[in-house]
Amino acid sequence: MSAVIIDGKIIAKALRVECRVRAEQLKCKGMQPGLAVIIVGDNQASGIYVRNKVRACNEAGIYSEVHEFPDSADQDKVLSCIHELNTNSRIHGILVQLPLPRHFEDKKIIGSIGVEKDVDGFHLNNIGALVTGYAVYPPCTPYGVMKMLEKNNIQIEGQHAVIVGRSNIVGKPMALMLLEKGATVTICTSKTINLEEHTKRADILVVATGKPRMITAKMVKLGVTVIDVGINRMPDGKLAGDVDFDAVREKAGYITPVPGGVGPMTIAMLLCNTIEAARRIQSEIMSKNNTDK
Ligand code: GUN
Repeated sequence: MSAVIIDGKIIAKALRVECRVRAEQLKCKGMQPGLAVIIVGDNQASGIYVRNKVRACNEAGIYSEVHEFPDSADQDKVLSCIHELNTNSRIHGILVQLPLPRHFEDKKIIGSIGVEKDVDGFHLNNIGALVTGYAVYPPCTPYGVMKMLEKNNIQIEGQHAVIVGRSNIVGKPMALMLLEKGATVTICTSKTINLEEHTKRADILVVATGKPRMITAKMVKLGVTVIDVGINRMPDGKLAGDVDFDAVREKAGYITPVPGGVGPMTIAMLLCNTIEAARRIQSEIMSKNNTDK
């Protein structure tokens, strides 16, 4: 058996077309959605991600601006930039690209973003909303994974989902979202003892460890859905996921490729969250205008 490949590029493209239509509708009502991206330091991968995000905004008709700071920047400078963006009516979403330099306190920076503009969904209030099942802005990568499962009609309720990776950006929110949809969830890390015992029990396996090809064919059961969030640059210059794709695809029912799997979905969901932020702000303005009349 060879798995069905879940093509993130195709799903993301359709979502980006939907976003373009929704952005145009908002523009007709006098509000062009706007995203501000803050990048600190010269992390090469972050630079590429930010350029891709800006390009996707342009294509979807979303206004965007990038605020760049050197690695040596003072945290207070970045905080005052965020405070200005919080009150800037042109901007509906604010994203601080991670990782930040070591002398920055991530919690303080993310906590300073207005909750209603936190399109990454990393603010503690938004995480709290996610925990209680009322997510407003679900974090983009796990949100993209949920869309991929939905578009392929993959059953979640009652299934055993195993997540390898416990990051705040992917592993933890992923677990909450799958739990909310009725999955039984196990969270592992790359260091879990007897990891294979857990991964073999997965109906849905999500891997986000940053360890190239660590999930091998003997670690999965027949027919499993495998979602590979990893993206690793190999010594030969090629990209590889956290899953040994060629071997695992022979056992899996569904599998995402790297590249072209989860990566394009993250950006598409950022556009969705930004448009949702603009729509919410616009409807608040409308209802305020109506009560003022
Ligand atoms: N770095 C890696 N992934 C992400 C993401 O989804 N959002 C932000 N802000 N930074 C990241």
